[in-house]
Amino acid sequence: MKKKKLNIVLFGPPGAGKGTQSQFLIERYGLVHLSTGDLLRAEIKAESPLGLQAQEIIGRGDLVNDDIVIAMIRNKIEAHHAAAGFIFDGFPRTKAQAEALDGMLNSKSEPITAMLALEVPEEELVKRLLNRGKTSQRADDQDEAVIRKRIGEYEQKTAPLKEYYSAQGKYTGIDGVGTIAEITGRLVQAIGE
Ligand code: AP5
Ligand code: MG
Repeated sequence: MKKKKLNIVLFGPPGAGKGTQSQFLIERYGLVHLSTGDLLRAEIKAESPLGLQAQEIIGRGDLVNDDIVIAMIRNKIEAHHAAAGFIFDGFPRTKAQAEALDGMLNSKSEPITAMLALEVPEEELVKRLLNRGKTSQRADDQDEAVIRKRIGEYEQKTAPLKEYYSAQGKYTGIDGVGTIAEITGRLVQAIGE
């Protein structure tokens, strides 16, 4: 029988540690990492028309249009159809994105396995992102108002997806405060393979 794919939504607010933890999980489980934030930043770096449009939106702390990020994810899933599975990092962020992702994966009978939500208090998120802003090139980490706007967008548009995945019996909350290794351990325990 074909081995079941491991498709994980790694969920959480800006600064929760999605990118950091993805690096450990892709190695351990042989997964492909799909971060819409990373894909958009690559477009910005390439100065593509999409990148120029995204740059302004990301710089304000707003969400990019659903159709754009859905198309990006669709292309990547098709390009890696032989993968053992995917870690979705920073996607989906709206109900429309979650429904589109279910449509893509269910049509291949490779549904989302689990949605793991890293939980971190707002003040710790702001502290982490301002700290990264001192050394990173990320324009959206430079200004506390933009960081708080990103967190506000998450609370309003993205956090409700916990209920969406809960209704499918797939949501697990993970304490996202602690050392990086401790948090990896909690994620691995929740994946249980
Ligand atoms: P995106 O790139 O997804 O950024 P984000 O969600 O704002 O989150 P970050 O990447 O900043 O945080 P993270 O959770 O990955 O944490 P990290 O591991 O880096 O999105 C950027 C923008 O693109 C969005 O605002 C939006 O405009 C657009 N976009 C992207 N996807 C979209 C979509 N689907 N729809 C619409 N728009 C979209 O860690 C953060 C920092 O904390 C690092 O410095 C790290 O070293 C540190 N850290 C990590 N773990 C710990 C720990 N345990 N203790 C202390 N510090 C830690
Ligand atoms: Mg990230």
